[in-house]
Amino acid sequence: MAAGKGTRMKSATPKVLQQLAHQGLVQHVLDTAAQLQARKVVVITGHGAEQVEAALLQTDEAAPRREFVRQMPQLGTGHAVQQALPVLDDDGVMVVLSGDVPLTEADTIQQLLEVCSDECLALLTLTMDNPFGYGRVLRNPDGEVNRIVEQKDGKPQELLVKEIYSGIMAAPTRLMRQWLGRIDNHNAQQEYYLTDVVKLAVADGVPVKAHMIHDAVQVAGVNSPQQLAELEREYQQRQARRLMADGVRLRDPARFDVRGTLQCGQDVDIDIGCVFEGNVTLGNRVKIGAHCVLANCTIGDDVVISPFTHIDGGKQPVQVGAGSLIGPFARLRPGTELAEEVHIGNFVEVKNSTLAKGAKANHLAYLGDATVGERVNYGAGSITANYDGANKHRTVIEADVHIGSNSVLVAPVTIGAGGTVGAGSAVSKDTPANALSVVRGRLTLKENYTRPAKIQK
Ligand code: UD1
Ligand code: MG
Repeated sequence: MAAGKGTRMKSATPKVLQQLAHQGLVQHVLDTAAQLQARKVVVITGHGAEQVEAALLQTDEAAPRREFVRQMPQLGTGHAVQQALPVLDDDGVMVVLSGDVPLTEADTIQQLLEVCSDECLALLTLTMDNPFGYGRVLRNPDGEVNRIVEQKDGKPQELLVKEIYSGIMAAPTRLMRQWLGRIDNHNAQQEYYLTDVVKLAVADGVPVKAHMIHDAVQVAGVNSPQQLAELEREYQQRQARRLMADGVRLRDPARFDVRGTLQCGQDVDIDIGCVFEGNVTLGNRVKIGAHCVLANCTIGDDVVISPFTHIDGGKQPVQVGAGSLIGPFARLRPGTELAEEVHIGNFVEVKNSTLAKGAKANHLAYLGDATVGERVNYGAGSITANYDGANKHRTVIEADVHIGSNSVLVAPVTIGAGGTVGAGSAVSKDTPANALSVVRGRLTLKENYTRPAKIQK
């Protein structure tokens, strides 16, 4: 269910929801569903449907088995699930998950499904010291679940109950269809409550089983920016613990963020303040300095990435070959492929370029749309002028070339193998192998020159 505005997030606007979807809230829930290998994953959208669907269409791995249904208008959680019934088969079991409860683990839901294996309605529940806002699980004197009462409908005595309904339930679709056909909206919120299926199951003599867990984070809902931030931190700490259990060295697990998937080889060392986005793979013995951002990239064995480096492969993942040294303050953009032992130093930007083994660009430079040969040394302040305002052109720098400082290579251009470009040259024609190319204006000299008063300061 991802159609509601979230009654406890009073200020929710479509924009907030869109952000939440982007931040992967619903995505977390869909990832969990994918782990369950469900026959079908039905996403119920409504409030801000277009944005939520668009955000999910970009990333969801369960996509092949996923369907969207829309709930317009949003008349409650029971009404939401009703919208999904036409696309569900009667011979299955359905699990209802909430789009705003992101950290439920697949194992937990698997256990709930096992509870539900003999015909019954299974509820995931939890005991809370402060159950305010949640539906309370009411039991009869024998301890059997009778019904769920919502915060706004509960009598004071009922609201003392600390066992809450998590928002997650499972039941045979066939039974759910019968119950959902009978719910009404005669309650404080005038909504069709999904939770009313409990009393209908009891009336039908179908057992209702509560599967109680003790890990509150797994059922914590996101109803405010603060809760979102708290759960995000909890999620990050869980990821950090998992990586450390696999032997990754994190200098401080509290200052570490993975917003995607991070795979690490052996003896990886990550300093504080790093952010990993999309799909990132780190080889063996990789060292990452403080405050680096790495997105969509594959980093080879023994690579050292120094502080404040930004690597973003976007749609063309960046590859960094074994033994390379990157940063500090380096920027690698989409389509960058570095072979082994490449050095990219401070304030060097590389985009859509390949650098062969041992090539170096150590300071203040730009390489865009370039093919750089082995052992090339690319001087400080040099750039490829790859864009003529309409088209991008390629620069080819063959093996063993030295590009002197402050050079401009005007693409399309090829610098022949073993060549040298003199410092400060603007080269716009191909040069043969082993040539020295120097293109500079002549020195103009005025002796005893006095600067105009205006710029003397
Ligand atoms: C719901 C439960 C409550 C439980 C709590 C757990 C009901 C009636 N109450 O309350 O017992 O303790 O979750 O977090 O189910 N949604 C729709 N369409 C709608 C309304 C909601 O898709 O018309 C979706 C929301 O987007 C959200 C989920 O259903 O993902 C829960 O809705 P919300 O309004 O947050 O329900 P709660 O009041 O939290
Ligand atoms: Mg509600």
